[in-house]
Amino acid sequence: MSTLPIGVLGSGSGTNMQSIQDAIDRGELDAKIVCVIADVPDAKILDRARRHGIPADYLDPAPFKTKLEGPAEDRYIAHLRAHGAEVVVLAGFMRIVKPKLLAAFPNRVLNIHPALLPAFPGVAAWKQALDYGAKVAGVTVHFVDAGTDTGPIIVQRAVPVLDDDTPESLHARIQVEEHVAYPEALRLLAAGRLRIEGRRVLVAPETT
Ligand code: GAR
Repeated sequence: MSTLPIGVLGSGSGTNMQSIQDAIDRGELDAKIVCVIADVPDAKILDRARRHGIPADYLDPAPFKTKLEGPAEDRYIAHLRAHGAEVVVLAGFMRIVKPKLLAAFPNRVLNIHPALLPAFPGVAAWKQALDYGAKVAGVTVHFVDAGTDTGPIIVQRAVPVLDDDTPESLHARIQVEEHVAYPEALRLLAAGRLRIEGRRVLVAPETT
């Protein structure tokens, strides 16, 4: 397989993007982050990417607040294509991507969600789990479909919810697993080992 060119979309601190770059640097993931795009002008993910020499740009997502659609969606698609991205990785991108971008990268848009889907879709999922009284929380990496946090699941990792957890402490425990889960999902994708069958993602055995 050839090196997988990844475009990353983010809104925040970029620790997941960092975990992917670290896996590449360790030789565990045959991929290259070809560009990072943020929908927030001063998002830390941009500085993190630039420290690694990755082209990193803020692209205006207007006019919508919670989704990427219309001319902004076109700009994002054009930018990803111009940088040669073949896979789009949503890494803390706090905006719903719409069918045009999904069609531009069919079965090649991935998201990480800080809960064991289908439980707790949407925002601040770790807080939803804590408030609900769940005893187990976790992280899901999935292909993105037209719904919100509904696409076929690639990798999940669980963490316990402890009695003295705060939203922050639980999120921190989940993030440790996120930084394992995203490189793992991308490693399987880059190795051509994932096959989508209906809602299920089947993982082919490793060949040596
Ligand atoms: C992560 O916890 C990710 O799971 C979450 O945002 C955080 C981004 O952290 N994503 C969502 O809630 C998407 N609905 P990062 O910027 O440090 O990677």
